[in-house]
Amino acid sequence: MAHEIVVKTKILQSGTERAMCIGIDNGKINAVEKYLDGERELHFEDYLALPGGVDIHTHMREPGMTQKEDFYTGTKAAAFGGTTTILDMPNTIPSVKNELALRDKLDIIKNKANVDFGLFGQLSDIDNISGMTNLAIGFKLYMSETTGASGTIKTPLEHLLNSDALAGKVVTVHAEDPRMFADDTCDNLHRHNLIRNMKAEFMALRRILAVDAPVKLNLAHLTTAESIDQVKAKRASFEITPHHLLLHDASKIDAMGKVNPPLRKKAISERLFKTLKTGRAIIASDHAPHTLEEKSVDFKDAPSGLPGVETRLPLMLALANKGIIRYIHVQDMCCTLPAELFGLKKGKIETGYDADLAFYDANNMVKIEAENLHSKCGWTPFEGHHAIFPKGVMLRGQMIIRGGELAIEKSGKFLK
Ligand code: NCD
Ligand code: ZN
Repeated sequence: MAHEIVVKTKILQSGTERAMCIGIDNGKINAVEKYLDGERELHFEDYLALPGGVDIHTHMREPGMTQKEDFYTGTKAAAFGGTTTILDMPNTIPSVKNELALRDKLDIIKNKANVDFGLFGQLSDIDNISGMTNLAIGFKLYMSETTGASGTIKTPLEHLLNSDALAGKVVTVHAEDPRMFADDTCDNLHRHNLIRNMKAEFMALRRILAVDAPVKLNLAHLTTAESIDQVKAKRASFEITPHHLLLHDASKIDAMGKVNPPLRKKAISERLFKTLKTGRAIIASDHAPHTLEEKSVDFKDAPSGLPGVETRLPLMLALANKGIIRYIHVQDMCCTLPAELFGLKKGKIETGYDADLAFYDANNMVKIEAENLHSKCGWTPFEGHHAIFPKGVMLRGQMIIRGGELAIEKSGKFLK
C-alpha cells in the first residue's frame, strides 16, 4: 500500500546516518524502511532529518508583554530553528496560577501558534491546582523571585507537592534559594553571578530534592556539573540551556547576558559542557525575550532573560558538526528526552510518532546574525556563533518551513 507521503532522506539509526524512506499517513509516521511507495514523494536525500525539536522551557510573553514577543512570532522563531513543539511558561500577565487564567490564556493564543504547544500552570496555592490539571501540560515552581514571578508560594512546599492533583505530573523547578543571594550592586555580569551565586542553586536543590512527593521533578536551567550530580543522585530530570554552556560572566554582551540563574565563570561552563558527553540532559532554551530598549537601561535595572528558541538546536548541531558532541546526543537531548518526559508521541522518527521532522544540510554552517532570526525582540546573545539551521521543517506531515519561508501559518495544535 502506498503511503500518503514518503520522505526520502537520511536519518540517525543506532547513531549512524542511513538513507531511509519515512512513510507518513494522517500526519503520523507509519513506516521507516529502506524502500517505500508514496502517493507523494519528498526528496531530502542529501539532508539529515532529525525529529522536530521539543523545547520544554519558553516564555512567549502572551498575554501581557507582546512588545517583547507574541505567540505567533515566538512559535515562528521556533519553527525556523527546527523546533516543532514548545511548552510555554506561566509568568505571563496575569500569571497562570488558576484555571480561569489558564483558560483565558489558551483562548487568546490558541489560533496563533506556528508549532504545537503546551502550557504550564504555576504552583502557588494548593486549592488552585486541580482546576488546571485538565489543561496544563505541567507545572512550574519558582523557589525565588525572578523576572515576572514573585516566588511566593501560598502553601508549604511539602504539602503543595503532595497535592493529589499533582500525582504523576511534571513539576519544573526554578531552583535558586534567595536566602543565599548577596546584597550588592548588580552592575555587570560578574556581579550578577556573585549575587545570585551557585550556592543559592545548591541550597535550593538540596531543599527541593529532599521533598518526598509523587511528582516528576524536573530541574530547570542547571548551571554547574555539581548541580547535575546532586539531581542525578535523586533520579530527577534536568535541563541545561545553551547559554549556560556557551556563554559566561566575562562574555562581552553586557545586559544581553543578564539572566536567572546567571551566567557563571568560564571554567564552570566548561565543566558543565563536559556533562553533555553522556547525552542524558534535556537541552531547553529558557527563551525569555526582552526588547532591546528594556535591555539598554542601566545594567542593574535591566530585566533578566534572553532569547534562544530559534538558536537552541542549530547551535548544538554546529557543535556536533565540529565533532565536539555526537549527533545522536543532539537528537536525544533536544528532541527525544524532552518529549518522553511529557509523554508526547514526538521526538522520534519511528512508527506511531507524529511526523514532525526537520531537514539539515550538515555542511551548511553559518554564523548567527540577529537580523536573520524571527523573534520579535530582534537581538541574540549568540551573535557570530556557528549554527546549522534547517532547510525545511515538517509539522504533522505538512511542510511548515519551505524555501526559507513560513509556508503554512498557525497550524500549531494545543497539547494537554
Ligand atoms: C525569565 C523571564 O524573563 O521570563 N527570565 C530569566 O532570566 N530566565 C524568568 C525565569 O524563567 O526566570
Ligand atoms: Zn524560564
